[in-house]
Amino acid sequence: MIKNDLFLRALKGETVQRPPVWMMRQAGRYLPDFMKLKEKYDFFTRCRTPELATEITVMPIEQVGTDAAILFSDILVVPQAMDIEVEMKQGVGPWLPNPVNSEKRVEAAIVPDVNETLGYVYDAIKLTKQALNDEVPLIGFAGSPWTIFCYAVQGQGSKNFDKAKAMCFSRPDLAHTLLQKITDTTIAYLKGKIDAGVDALQVFDSWGGMLSPVDYQEFSWQYIQQIVDALKDHIPVIVFGKGCWFALEKMSKSGAAALGVDWTCSPRNARAFTNNSITLQGNFDPSRLLSPPKDITKMVHQMIDEFGKDKYIANLGHGILPNIPVEHAKAFVEAVKSYPDR
Ligand code: CP3
Repeated sequence: MIKNDLFLRALKGETVQRPPVWMMRQAGRYLPDFMKLKEKYDFFTRCRTPELATEITVMPIEQVGTDAAILFSDILVVPQAMDIEVEMKQGVGPWLPNPVNSEKRVEAAIVPDVNETLGYVYDAIKLTKQALNDEVPLIGFAGSPWTIFCYAVQGQGSKNFDKAKAMCFSRPDLAHTLLQKITDTTIAYLKGKIDAGVDALQVFDSWGGMLSPVDYQEFSWQYIQQIVDALKDHIPVIVFGKGCWFALEKMSKSGAAALGVDWTCSPRNARAFTNNSITLQGNFDPSRLLSPPKDITKMVHQMIDEFGKDKYIANLGHGILPNIPVEHAKAFVEAVKSYPDR
């Protein structure tokens, strides 16, 4: 049994004394101890070495006090396993030397044996579960097929992912072949994470909001729905679609346990779109953590008032930024914890 089970109870929609809190991308980036490890080991070495991944995963639990841990890894380990090369370039971010930009490259992408190619992630989960000692739950994750497709085809981050969209709109057959391969890999990968011991899963559709509502259905949502269908009877699944407020109603009927909301959608609208039927997670503007701590506290209490303390998981509306002082991250977490007695 997990000692602090607030997060799991909120996912079930149970009444809680206060909402649980964690922060997207809480493992790394803004933590000084992480920066020290970063000097010694390159990014994918940190991901592939279970001892390092465990150490980084546990840091925010000990140093910031979140109610859930999220495994230190990256969404881009999935294309790597599919034989699509991915590097992490200093100052650039993800860099794919051979983007999947032709029929030949789409055919060359494999649906791998996940135990062979991603076994190191499962080892990291097992070691992290031991280190956490059942204090808090562990979240596993994957990128949505669309978000992975964006990097695989574009070859790097982008303001508009124009090359990825060009494939969708000029060769939809190719796009769907690749999206389905990513989906099949992701389902197998996440089933393995369940077997390795994670307590919940989150699907990051970071670039879903790049698509119009109609294209979102065709190129993103139908694949996320396949993932939810495959997993929902085994584990709670959270779907976070950045910029996807227009899809919240459909998502609320998908079988997901909770939905992530970014800061551009008001809590009131998010509750209305989902008919108050599902646990929501979010949605503090990550840049707002640059405000003085006393303002953070006030705004967090206001956010909880607006979402309501039940069927709610306090979080940011996207990942924490690297330039956030640790004291401000702590103020965010403490504000949620003090909510009942404010
Ligand atoms: O949430 C966590 O703390 C767990 C670890 C985690 C990382 N990436 C570690 C990471 C998670 C959940 C991710 C998800 C991820 N990765 C997403 C989806 C969420 C989102 O932010 O939209 C995306 C799009 C990626 C792809 C990616 N990885 C990018 C664009 C970058 C470079 C820019 C950046 O954010 O710093 C990465 C690198 C990355 N992944 C870092 C970390 C801690 C920073 C690089 C480093 O530490 O060397």
